[in-house]
Amino acid sequence: MPGSATPASTSPSAGLPEVLAPLAADLEKVGDAYREILASASPESRDMVRHAARFNGKRLRPALSCVAARLAGSEVTEPVAIAAGIVELIHTATLVHDDILDHAEVRRKVATLNIRWGNHAAVLVGDILFSRAYRAAAYLEDPFASRYLSDVVGIVLEGEIHQDTVSHDPTIGEEEYREIIRGKTAALYEAALVVGAHYGGANEELKGRLGAFGHHLGMAFQIIDDRLDVTGDEATVGKSLGTDMSEGKMTLPLILWRDGSAPEGREAAVARIQEAWSSDDGAQELARELEASGALSRTDAAAQAEIDRALACLEGVPEAPERDLLGTIARFVVRRTL
Ligand code: FPP
Ligand code: MG
Repeated sequence: MPGSATPASTSPSAGLPEVLAPLAADLEKVGDAYREILASASPESRDMVRHAARFNGKRLRPALSCVAARLAGSEVTEPVAIAAGIVELIHTATLVHDDILDHAEVRRKVATLNIRWGNHAAVLVGDILFSRAYRAAAYLEDPFASRYLSDVVGIVLEGEIHQDTVSHDPTIGEEEYREIIRGKTAALYEAALVVGAHYGGANEELKGRLGAFGHHLGMAFQIIDDRLDVTGDEATVGKSLGTDMSEGKMTLPLILWRDGSAPEGREAAVARIQEAWSSDDGAQELARELEASGALSRTDAAAQAEIDRALACLEGVPEAPERDLLGTIARFVVRRTL
């Protein structure tokens, strides 16, 4: 494994940069591939494209792709780095569009594209990023990324559309919520591992296990994201929070709180949720109630259960420092504050 620190030496309280330190050289290769894919942006779009590229700060997906390739017995070769860069670029494109849909103002501590350049430009920049990713996949000798990722992007979009169709519906249940986040978030986490494993030469079994790990990790990531939307500190998280409430999204903290209330109080709970969706005061009051009722702890427990499922998927993966690193990344995802 490149770099100095071995994954096993990473302390449980380490921040993400320390967790990913052993992958520094690999991540540099993915970063180079990502920048190369974007290099052909026109002078008119260059500043906006560069601005969007600042959104891929945590580099979790590229790290997962690199680890998957290494677990398949490969170095981070050019195709691995390009495939990882493509997944990250698709992720960036989705964030640019997501911020328009959510009327978000800040991401990664800087203004969103919709705020800085307006919705019109932001839609087009998201499309440029997506088209660059699509083009890079088409030029890979092995067409796997092109075929597989076109399906994945469809799943992400279906997840977003599903979310839209149930917006401001306080009756949706946990199953439906899980179906939405499976599409909008977990599919791309799964993809990060699958493409890394594939271009690293993994067999179908290893690809399947790593993909399943990515799915559960992505589920946990989004559950924590939805909890942070209620309780996070904007300065730490670095993006607009409270948008789930203002956009009428029925996320897991709300579902668990509603379902945890006594049957005779269910109607009142639904009314409180609707109130929170329409007023800032209502949202703040409900956030306090979610905390006091234990709904947020139950949300954390649901994320932890996904991490446990993710870790179980690693049981059949050969023991290696990289496997431990996946475990460390998984544990980071549930205790993250950003
Ligand atoms: C974040 O959700 C959003 C996503 C994970 C997916 C968004 C996808 C689209 C808008 C489809 C666009 C697709 C392409 C190919 C350009 P969130 O709002 O809960 O998270 P946040 O707190 O980070 O905003
Ligand atoms: Mg959003």
